[in-house]
Amino acid sequence: MNTLGRLALCLAAVGAIALLSATGPAQEESLPAPGPPTRTPEQMQKEKSLVAFAKVASVLRHPRCMNCHPSGDRPHVGNDRHLHGMNVQRGPEDHGVPGLYCSACHRTENQAVPNIPGAPHWQLAPPSMGWEGLDDHDLAAMLIDKNRNGNRSLEDLLHHMRVDALVLWGWQAGSGRSNPPLSHEGFIRALKDWFTTGAALPPKGATTF
Ligand code: HEC
Ligand code: HEC
Repeated sequence: MNTLGRLALCLAAVGAIALLSATGPAQEESLPAPGPPTRTPEQMQKEKSLVAFAKVASVLRHPRCMNCHPSGDRPHVGNDRHLHGMNVQRGPEDHGVPGLYCSACHRTENQAVPNIPGAPHWQLAPPSMGWEGLDDHDLAAMLIDKNRNGNRSLEDLLHHMRVDALVLWGWQAGSGRSNPPLSHEGFIRALKDWFTTGAALPPKGATTF
């Protein structure tokens, strides 16, 4: 190759590099601008709703509530949620079997010696209200399903959570029994937030604690 030829090759190579570097940034510019993706007001409301539900679920899944809302036929006991001793069973109306009704041992208030929890109308939540084993989606859906929640509207549910003796007991559970992670007030606030943002259902399969 003569000098001129080499020079031509060299110039061609420089040209190619220039071309490459020119097309690089041009391509990038056509990509969407970096930064947080824009969300519609509906999406933002749904996100808020899901955050509120996660707080609600943290209380529902606490042993103080879950021990009485099992999917099986026996109550659970303690912070480790072991099966209730003495082979206690839910019975046909969720308050025990003849000879071993809940009220044989559980009174309308906690007893210190022996340490037996108590509150008015102490009994197991019916099977339709069994939360054990549900993922977040099913737990949320169950809670607002009138066919399973005792025919309660959202307003009724809020009322139940505000005043029901068994719910309130969760925050006065007696010695050695921990409280749910939110205060009762905080729980009611989270519940309200979930409802007023449309009671969004979490995606299937996820379980938060
Ligand atoms: C001693 C047992 C017991 C404990 C403890 C208990 N529950 Fe219940 N729960 C019940 C029973 C029984 C019902 C059904 C009462 C009814 O329908 O009137 C019920 C119903 C409910 C309902 C309405 C139906 C549903 O599942 O949507 C909600 C909500 C509820 N409980 C929340 C709670 C929360 C929150 C806690 C803990 C802070 C709790 N419960 C602790 C026994 C219990
Ligand atoms: C023979 C007496 C007896 C009967 C009957 C009985 N319980 Fe209990 N229950 C106890 C005692 C004692 C404890 C406390 C055990 C402990 O803390 O280790 C207890 C604890 C519990 C707890 C645990 C609360 C918590 O969060 O730790 C639940 C829930 C419960 N009982 C529900 C019921 C239900 C519902 C019935 C009726 C279907 C029932 N029990 C029948 C004696 C009884």
